[in-house]
This record gives sequence, C-alpha cells and structure tokens, in this order.
Amino acid sequence: SKGNYRHFMLKEIHEQPIVVAQTLRTYLRRLEGELAPPPEDIDLASVRRVTIVACGTSFYAGMVAKYWFEQFARVPVDIDVASEFRYREPIMEEGGLALFISQSGETADTLAALRHARASGQKIAVVVNVPTSTMAREADLLLPTHAGPEIGVASTKAFTCQLAVLAALAASLARAKGRLSQEEERRIVRHLSEAPAAINGALAYDEAIEALAATIAPARDVLYLGRGPDYPLALEGALKLKEISYIHAEGYAAGEMKHGPIALIDDAVPVVVIAPSGPLFDKTVSNMQEVQARGGQVILISDYDGIEAAGEGCVATLTMPKVHPLIAPIVYAIPVQLLAYHVAVAKGTDVDQPRNLAKSVTVE
Ligand code: F6R
Repeated sequence: SKGNYRHFMLKEIHEQPIVVAQTLRTYLRRLEGELAPPPEDIDLASVRRVTIVACGTSFYAGMVAKYWFEQFARVPVDIDVASEFRYREPIMEEGGLALFISQSGETADTLAALRHARASGQKIAVVVNVPTSTMAREADLLLPTHAGPEIGVASTKAFTCQLAVLAALAASLARAKGRLSQEEERRIVRHLSEAPAAINGALAYDEAIEALAATIAPARDVLYLGRGPDYPLALEGALKLKEISYIHAEGYAAGEMKHGPIALIDDAVPVVVIAPSGPLFDKTVSNMQEVQARGGQVILISDYDGIEAAGEGCVATLTMPKVHPLIAPIVYAIPVQLLAYHVAVAKGTDVDQPRNLAKSVTVE
C-alpha cells in the first residue's frame, strides 16, 4: 500500500534511508569498522578486469561503479548497456568477472548478456533486488540489494541500494588487491555508514523541490550536468524526468557542454548542475558559468560551501548535507528523483505508470 503517500514513487523515495541502511548491513561490519568478508567461493584478489552490464537506471549505477572500481581497486572496467554488449562480440578474458546489475533480475537484454558472458568463461556476479529472480538463480556471486518491492515504474530506491552495494564491493576488491590499509577501510566504512542520515538530510528538501517544480514544468527541454562519479547522476536525472514528466531532457558530462550542446542554451532552458564540494567542484563551476554567460537558467545542487562559493546568479539552489565524495552519488540521487517526481505531478502525468513503459522489460 501507498500508506500516506500520493504515489508509490514518493513512498519509495522516502524509504531510502531505511533500505540503504538495511542493504549496507549485509556488506559492512559497522561497529568493527570493517567490510564484511566476501563469500568464499569468489577470489577477488585474482580479478584482473571487470565487465559491467545493465540497462537504464541500473546501467547508470554501473557507470558510477566504474569510477569506484578503477579509483580504489585499480582494476580496469569495461561497461556497456546490455543490448549493445550482447551483440558486439565483446572481448572477455577467461576467468574475468562479469557484473550484472538489475532491480527485477528479469530484464531480457541483461539476462541474454549474462548467459553470453557465462558461455565466454566469465565468473558471474549479480547485484539484484528480487531474490527469487532468474538472474539471482544464475549468479555465481549473488550480491542482493535489500530495497524491498519496488512498485513505481521509475526506479528509485533500487538505484541507491545498488550504489551502496557497489561502493562496498569496490572497497572489498581494493582490500583483496592489497590497496586498502586498515585505516582507509575504517574510513570508507564510516563514510558509507553515514549515507542513510545524509539521505534523510536530502529528503528534508522535498518541499523546496516541490516549489521549484512549478518553474521547470513549463520547460520544453532540461539539461543536467555533472562530473566524475556524479556525471552518471546527470544521465539518471534526465532519464527520470523524461520517463515520468515527458519533458525532453539530456544529461551531459559538464566539461563536454562546450563541445556542442552549449548551442542549445538560452533563457528558456533550465540547467540542473550537480556539483558537490570535492576535487572536481571548481571545474564543474566553470562549466556552469559558461552556461550562465549564455543565459542558461541554472539550478545548482551542492552543499553549503558549494552554494556559498558559486550560488550567485543561479535561479535556484538546493543545499545538500556536506558528505564525503564517495557517498555523494548516493545522496545527490535524492534531489534528482524528487525533482522529476514533483515536475511530473505538476504536469499531471501518471507518475507510477508512465506511458509506454513496463516495470520489467522481458523482451530483447
Ligand atoms: C528507469 C527504469 C529502467 C530500468 C531498466 C532496467 O527508471 O526503471 O530504466 O532501470 O529497465 O531494469 P532492471 O534494473 O530491472 O534490470
């Protein structure tokens, strides 16, 4: 049931502090400041390459994971959407790890890719939300998300739970590779453990975002910009907005704007900039200023320091809790989801059952 919520999507957005905490409990020993040991049947130390395959929102979680796996574990990652991966004759070294990410565990494209990878001699790891699904059954290494049933067609809580699992997996891989000191492990566990409270802090902006939605609802196009691990969030923001509000939206790597898409900018185009404080902040802000100089209507999502430094000249700002860059993609998913939700409600679309879409896509 929807309880006191108007839509399943809104209920599921608000469940995230609880389900992310629930998911992290499987992967972290919080009190000990340790990662939970990986299952014995997989030798993470021997993993030389990871191939990530998924569709839609789950694919964007995989894109974030690529940054983490490469940064922490220094393991090269290949990533593709399942429908392309399956038929492009991908190169997979015997004994490589292939990682599939899916809420439903039934997506036909992802399942076909999984079976192809198995036939090519890969170990199969699956991050999946439905424990009884086909993909869960076919995994060598099952990495469950504990988001609970997701009813809204637009994926929300499954995404943040996938990110939580993938961050823990990146850290486990780094540890197995001898790339994580005990001190660093403790620090990562602490940062991840802070995610549920930070998500709660982000949810406090629900009403502010609802107020903002009225200004976005009339737009014909909306752009989302981000950098590094927050770039896939720009893609996710655009996907969420498209699928439930039917407004045309695109996500770009902030630095790529000036190579073409900036031609789209005028004062009728809202541009959502996702820019938490951190090593990439200044670069993202300079891309944002290029947009502002051409009349772009910027909505800046950052933390207090970021808004202080760069909020001037924005049509709106949203102040997220200050978090470590590792968990920023998890926390910044919340305003991105709420923005799409409230714009869709303002437009009067069927939020939980958007046109032309099904919850589980079982044809290739
Ligand atoms: C977007 C959305 C879809 C799914 C995609 C993969 O909100 O829900 O893009 O993410 O169809 O589905 P799963 O994760 O079930 O494989």
